[in-house]
Amino acid sequence: MRIALLGGTGDIGEGLALRFAHDTDHEVLIGSRDPEKARDAVADYEAALEDRGVDADVKGFANEMAADRADVVVLSVPPYYAGDTVEAVADRLDSDTILVTPAVGMKGDEDGMHYHPPGAGSVTELVAQRAPDEVPVVGAFHNLAAGKLADLEVAFDLDTLVVADDADAKRTVLDLSNEIEGLRALDAGPLANAAEVESVTPLVINIAKYNDELHDVGVKWQ
Ligand SMILES: NC(=O)c1ccc[n+]([C@@H]2O[C@H](COP(=O)([O-])OP(=O)(O)OC[C@H]3O[C@@H](n4cnc5c(N)ncnc54)[C@H](OP(=O)(O)O)[C@@H]3O)[C@@H](O)[C@H]2O)c1
Repeated sequence: MRIALLGGTGDIGEGLALRFAHDTDHEVLIGSRDPEKARDAVADYEAALEDRGVDADVKGFANEMAADRADVVVLSVPPYYAGDTVEAVADRLDSDTILVTPAVGMKGDEDGMHYHPPGAGSVTELVAQRAPDEVPVVGAFHNLAAGKLADLEVAFDLDTLVVADDADAKRTVLDLSNEIEGLRALDAGPLANAAEVESVTPLVINIAKYNDELHDVGVKWQ
């Protein structure tokens, strides 16, 4: 399978690229608004993987080209640009492309981070509204800390919650996520449940802020 990470030059894109390249046989495509930036990121990711003896299949492209070539497209861009990024690549997506969003709307103040969803109810639902009707949208990876994903020295033992209306697309993303070592993907229901999933992200960030012994907090549901 080909997995494109749009904005894969950023934090969550780096973490997911490294874990997918390290732990799975899938082809990873890094997308960027600037293809040169994507290729520079690929060089860095390949160096990190080579240090661990992994000869990975990672390539860099403009976002549009990465989306065009992929089976699964992960929108690894800040939440306020997610809708525009979907529209920028919309003509490269079809019913066989699964669009995945990890984006969470948050606002910070002196107390901590607070959930700040868009009018659509959640960023995941906003992405579904902006995507072409035939493209299945899945929410996943919202509550994972990019730093922990990107540090391949860290053994993972965390869950990610997956929401979608399309059962086949959800199954594919559950299976794909479970291929990352130490990551367990749990079904959290339809897209209408996305706000509850997204709202866990500011919670885990606040727990890390107020507990010095904890960094890059994640959740294991038991
Ligand atoms: N960071 C985390 O720990 C974490 C965890 C879970 C979920 N998330 C979610 O993942 C998403 C990405 O987070 P991040 O921390 O990786 O973000 P980031 O590093 O700030 O940005 C990711 C990439 O987005 C692209 N970008 C920046 N401005 C843009 C614009 N105006 N239009 C289109 N693309 C733009 C950039 O790529 P190019 O310049 O190469 O195009 C950038 O490298 C967010 O929605 C966040 O809520 C993050």
